[in-house]
Amino acid sequence: MLILALVVQYLFTLADGHGPHGDDEVEAGPVNAALVEFTASGHISELVQEWPEKIGLSEYPSSFTRGIEPKNIHSHNDYWQKVPFYQGLAVGAVSTEADVWAHNGDLLVGHEKTALDAKRTFRSLYIDPIVDVLEKQNPATEFVNNTRCGPFDQNCYQTLYLWVDLKTGAKETWPLVDAQLAPLRERNWLTKWTGKTIVPGPVTVIGTGSSNWEVLIVNKTRPRDYFVDAPLLKIGTESEQMHTDGKTPLYDSTSSPFATSSLVTAIGSIKGELSEKQLNQVKKLVKVAKERGVQTRFWETPNWPTRRRHNIWRQLVDVPVGLLNVDDLEDAAYGDW
Ligand SMILES: *[C@@H]1O[C@H](CO)[C@@H](O)[C@H](O)[C@H]1NC(C)=O
Ligand SMILES: *[C@@H]1O[C@H](CO)[C@@H](O)[C@H](O)[C@H]1NC(C)=O
Repeated sequence: MLILALVVQYLFTLADGHGPHGDDEVEAGPVNAALVEFTASGHISELVQEWPEKIGLSEYPSSFTRGIEPKNIHSHNDYWQKVPFYQGLAVGAVSTEADVWAHNGDLLVGHEKTALDAKRTFRSLYIDPIVDVLEKQNPATEFVNNTRCGPFDQNCYQTLYLWVDLKTGAKETWPLVDAQLAPLRERNWLTKWTGKTIVPGPVTVIGTGSSNWEVLIVNKTRPRDYFVDAPLLKIGTESEQMHTDGKTPLYDSTSSPFATSSLVTAIGSIKGELSEKQLNQVKKLVKVAKERGVQTRFWETPNWPTRRRHNIWRQLVDVPVGLLNVDDLEDAAYGDW
């Protein structure tokens, strides 16, 4: 109540022309005139409701994604959403995923061939919208230029993970992905590995599906601005792939921000929630990856019944895993689980 009274009083002083600086000379411009109207009625709720239209100072250059809290959610098979990319962004998912098929020199997006459509391309569903949002979040104004903010207004430093799941062979498909990243690359918006260090950027591209170290990582002609999904279940085991020295693991934090696995493959079939043994197995995997500087994501997590899904989400987030793999974005972002 006290705060409300103070705000109202403050507005009255503004309307009177007695601003906080006691300056009587301030001209009553349109803003002050409108405030007089507001404060005359004396209801702050009206003011709040009518401010955007009447005063018109509600928008700011990077307000497109204002108020969205970024969340460690991965929009699994994101292109299944009615509005690919944007729907995940709207709920704060920091990670999205496109399955791509090489076709006539372009990349079509879909889970299986029956779902392909020449108009639904990697460019039209992902690259173009991402560039569009980042243009908004990185405006050229009299105050800043050439910023490298991610898509979230609330946290400029939060990168967007863009997983590209190759459905056709890596050798044939990755060069197309690489070429289509050009609009992001030209604007210096990709997280990159310089050979010495990782320079974070607004978008972090991670190849998965048929992507592999041999094609994505080994062969590079410039600072590498994409990464590759690491096989979580192999890290620290005898079947882990090594460099030719036989000692240095192929996949590390410079090649792979994340290691992933099917949850079922990792811990077996799941009842109502993870058993203590299963949970410990998950924790062990997360720890081994973390020691390598790599985060984790488990896919093939149960979707139904909802209660079971919620139980498992809770358990995984508490571990915590790096990204929660999610199909129902609204439920993950706002559900009471
Ligand atoms: C940014 O670029 C624009 C357009 O070139 C220019 O008008 C503006 O003054 C620049 N801002 C800064 C902070 O340098
Ligand atoms: C590496 O890149 C070169 C030049 O782009 C290419 O000719 C070669 O086939 C690539 N090797 C692999 C293993 O992809």
